[in-house]
Amino acid sequence: MPDLIPVLTEEEIRSRIESLAKKISVDYCDKSLILIGVLKGAFVFLSDLMRRLTIPVEVDFVQLSSYGDSDVSSGKIKLRRGISTDLKDKDVLIVEDIVDTGLTMSKLEAYLKTFKPKSIKLCALIDKRQRRETDCRIDYACHRVEEGFLVGYGLDYAEKYRNLPAIYHLKF
Ligand code: IMP
Ligand code: MG
Repeated sequence: MPDLIPVLTEEEIRSRIESLAKKISVDYCDKSLILIGVLKGAFVFLSDLMRRLTIPVEVDFVQLSSYGDSDVSSGKIKLRRGISTDLKDKDVLIVEDIVDTGLTMSKLEAYLKTFKPKSIKLCALIDKRQRRETDCRIDYACHRVEEGFLVGYGLDYAEKYRNLPAIYHLKF
């Protein structure tokens, strides 16, 4: 069995999301905000974040995958589910669980741009920097790490551990 080393407690996650939600509520107070959650990993983060926003907001989801059951990105990103909302003139905030190489976010941004939204920004629960291969800009992040495979609070390894209420480093 791999070890689970604590990275963020439930309380730390809660307080970081609270600050992020306050900032987003100010930044988007005069905009048409739509959150685009990236399934499956971001659904836990998105549901907590959106309930702390104090401004009107819409929500939609996309599903992308690149990892299969591995802990290393295959680099081939598949769009498994597209959006079902009109994005024209909307201010899109992508809500992602973790950005690693950045390839998934580059692919998603290119896809979303084809729907001509007014703006696109990125909010990530975790910004993992060591293997970044693109210059994707993370506008809002809860936590930064240099390396390691993280699980819990929506993040999985081979579809397991998503249900853990806190975030852990999975040590193989
Ligand atoms: P990227 O394309 O390399 O940036 O990978 C992004 C996707 O890989 C994320 O949406 C996650 O689903 C997954 N991923 C990357 N690192 C981790 C991790 O440490 N734990 C769980 N999933 C991860
Ligand atoms: Mg993901």
